[in-house]
Amino acid sequence: MMTEIAPARTRMELAAWARASGASALQTMLSVGTRPGTISFALGLPAPELFPTEEYGRAAAAVLAEDPRALQYSPPHAPLQAHVAALMAQRGVTCAPEQVFLTTGAQQGIALLARLLLEPGGEIITETLCYTGLQQAVEPFGPRFLTVPSDPETGIDVDAVESLLASGSRPAFLYTVPDGNNPLSLSLSAEKRARLAALAAEHGVPIIEDDPYGFLAYDGPAATPIRALDAEWVLYVGSFSKILAPGLRLGWIVVPEELVPLLAIAKEASDINTATLAQRAAARYLDGGHLAGHLATVRREYRLRRDTMLAALETHFPAGSRWQRPSAGVFVWVELPEGYDTAEVLRAALEQRVAFVPGHAFAADGSRTGSNCMRLNFSHSTPQVIEEGIARLGRALEAVRA
Ligand SMILES: Cc1ncc(COP(=O)(O)O)c(C=O)c1O
Repeated sequence: MMTEIAPARTRMELAAWARASGASALQTMLSVGTRPGTISFALGLPAPELFPTEEYGRAAAAVLAEDPRALQYSPPHAPLQAHVAALMAQRGVTCAPEQVFLTTGAQQGIALLARLLLEPGGEIITETLCYTGLQQAVEPFGPRFLTVPSDPETGIDVDAVESLLASGSRPAFLYTVPDGNNPLSLSLSAEKRARLAALAAEHGVPIIEDDPYGFLAYDGPAATPIRALDAEWVLYVGSFSKILAPGLRLGWIVVPEELVPLLAIAKEASDINTATLAQRAAARYLDGGHLAGHLATVRREYRLRRDTMLAALETHFPAGSRWQRPSAGVFVWVELPEGYDTAEVLRAALEQRVAFVPGHAFAADGSRTGSNCMRLNFSHSTPQVIEEGIARLGRALEAVRA
């Protein structure tokens, strides 16, 4: 969990999770990172200049002109469910449109699945360094995290998962990001995908496969999702945020059809329905066949930005620093030589007007795991800005070492 918690100042009687939570020192530091002139590698933002504003604008105008119910409450938009099923087929996943449950972003998909599966105080398996949005989604349930380490190249330690399950643990679910892992920037090996699918079925433990980055693969197509290997125990979470735009707040989950009515109840309690205009405009945009060309542009540009960042790291980071070449996603995970504390580096970096997220901010067990690591985003800044930002980070690292 985020460390260095400052409790909220209120005289109200808050729920237990809210009493324990609040703005972390890290979040406060990162808000400093949004100051004008500061280069931020902190958040996983897409490049706004690549948003398909014209085509999406035309699609939105057309659906509004045609039918005022584009602004009405609405059930899930069947044409969009069909488009998502077709997109899933491109990833090698066979599913029926009825198994596609539309959500207000992947984040809501995760939160709804947690609500469906997790009892208060229940157990879940995650990687030790884990997407903070998952941690926030489950926080009200006060779960026990059964954390397992990850190999920097092949991903989650499946042997550790296996021994947890063999010793009798029956977690509510296992959560993982198979491609362009956030924060670790790795992609899970095909062998580990197969072993995880087999373990889930054998022990009856669902996998939440969070895959916002599978379509953003830079060195050939990403491996097939775990969901392709098991349609019963793998609950797939997808998103339009990184392939179209996060402001649409559109995502989906692919689930066994019998779970859909329960998810519908949980969703109604959360936000009644996914924004009607966003659903219809996205479906119209996809009808026009624009996504493939748009994705090719985004992949080309992000590949360039990734490679620019990797080259700049070679130039400016101290000997002994390590990173992988991410084959998908929007982050590079960097491990600095032992002795560096990236909380301290962040203070120096902000003085140089550059921001990132220190590794231990992702530690699901609240430990200092990853405290010599940093997560750097490469999708949001132009190549020129990336070069300047990494040079500034290099200066911050030198200042810390001095
Ligand atoms: C791993 C992961 N899951 C989920 C999300 C949330 O995505 P969405 O915008 O679709 O809610 C993100 C956003 O960065 C993410 O990195």
